[in-house]
Amino acid sequence: MKDQIWLIGFSGTGKSRLARPIAAALDWQAVDLDAVIEAREGDTITNILRTRGEAEFRRLEAQIVQETAAMGNIVVATGGGAVLAAANRDVMHRRGFVVCLDARPETILERINRPGGKISDRPLLAASDPLQRIVDLKAERQAFYNEADFIIQTDDLTPDQVTHQILTAFREQTAVAGTT
Ligand code: S3P
Repeated sequence: MKDQIWLIGFSGTGKSRLARPIAAALDWQAVDLDAVIEAREGDTITNILRTRGEAEFRRLEAQIVQETAAMGNIVVATGGGAVLAAANRDVMHRRGFVVCLDARPETILERINRPGGKISDRPLLAASDPLQRIVDLKAERQAFYNEADFIIQTDDLTPDQVTHQILTAFREQTAVAGTT
């Protein structure tokens, strides 16, 4: 049985928000990759990206992905770009049930502009037309997001509903896997 759930998807789709309740329902541990990087580096993701650049951030992210992949009974909230590296995708799929949280670009922009989710905290989305930037960046990554075992459209669902659907899909997959 798979003993990891990896939440992938673009910024603002609810990965960090949902890792905890999903983990709690399974009596597993929630891991937020960006939070682990911030704790380890003693710096914010925003600052790391601004001062050290994206390549260095991706190197740190890849390192944490590999370390996290060695753990069991975890629900992992990844950063939106964690799927870019093939090594990250491989390791997620090896032991994990991979869930893509999806949302329309308009929903994403509205969510990351909410208090606590400012677009300025995502330097990679900084642009004169943030909506177009989201559309373009999401399109570049969509093929990787589509590799997920389960994809859920979150626009019109509450966090509780998304949690419930992910748990149902995971348990169904587990039940099927258990019969083979
Ligand atoms: C990124 C998304 C962010 C964070 C970093 C890079 C991306 O995480 O990892 O700013 O490349 O899309 P969220 O998906 O939690 O916003």
